[in-house]
Amino acid sequence: MKPDVTAFFDDATNTISFVVKDPMGSSCAIIDSVLDFDFSAARTDTKSADNIIAHVRENALNVEWILESHVHADHLSAAPYLQEQLGGKIGIGKNITVVQDTFGKVFNEGTEFQRDGSQFDQLFEEGDSFMIGQLRGDVLHTPGHTPACMTYVIGDAAFVGDTLFMPDFGTARCDFPGGSSEELYNSIQKILSLPDETRIFVGHDYKAPGRDAYAWETTVGEQKAKNVHIGDGADKDSFVQMRDTRDAQLSMPKLIIPSLQVNMRAGHMPEPDDEGDIVLKLPINKL
Ligand SMILES: [Fe+2]
Repeated sequence: MKPDVTAFFDDATNTISFVVKDPMGSSCAIIDSVLDFDFSAARTDTKSADNIIAHVRENALNVEWILESHVHADHLSAAPYLQEQLGGKIGIGKNITVVQDTFGKVFNEGTEFQRDGSQFDQLFEEGDSFMIGQLRGDVLHTPGHTPACMTYVIGDAAFVGDTLFMPDFGTARCDFPGGSSEELYNSIQKILSLPDETRIFVGHDYKAPGRDAYAWETTVGEQKAKNVHIGDGADKDSFVQMRDTRDAQLSMPKLIIPSLQVNMRAGHMPEPDDEGDIVLKLPINKL
């Protein structure tokens, strides 16, 4: 089955959110939503999420799932806001517990921060499947960028999050805590073993040399032939060396500190303090 896919591009973080609809009905899933965040003012805004809400309401869609491909480090998730407005279950990979454990330590969270994934409605593992109306989704565990990265294969479309980017841009970084370029290589091989005509929708786009427009849709066949990091049969050793060398030169994403604290809580802010204020931490020299 071929789902109807609508993409929403966020200029501030180069994130693409997707609404994936059952072609036979009104059911849909929302993948990788964005809560706008002005870091200088520490102020949130729901403009991006409201665009998705407007699309859902205009088309009278029924949101069954709000999915995260992983705990994003470059934008905050709007999942709880979308759920409050539209319903649907929030799902992520089961290894979220590993990510919660790692960043629970980095942010020195107390025992009130549960590391069991219970902030989410559904924890997926490899081989799980789920339904969006009559449309079936299958879950692949594709770690490497983070330990909890999942690829959702829905009908003929694979939502790969931050594993593969467009063929002319390459692949995702693997230098965050719990990342591994070797694991990413293996995960990518898993994605590339899907049929060549499988549509691939990527979670970010930054354009690429010689390309002026943002893009987010490609195919398995195109990735296999042309991806600048893994196409044309690149072997594991050279990929790992290339990825690690490149990652050593990358700076941290601007929103990593707020993003992790919010996204490891399924997009919820920490509990307010005694004054009723919500405060995020800024641990020094820990990332
Ligand atoms: Fe990411």
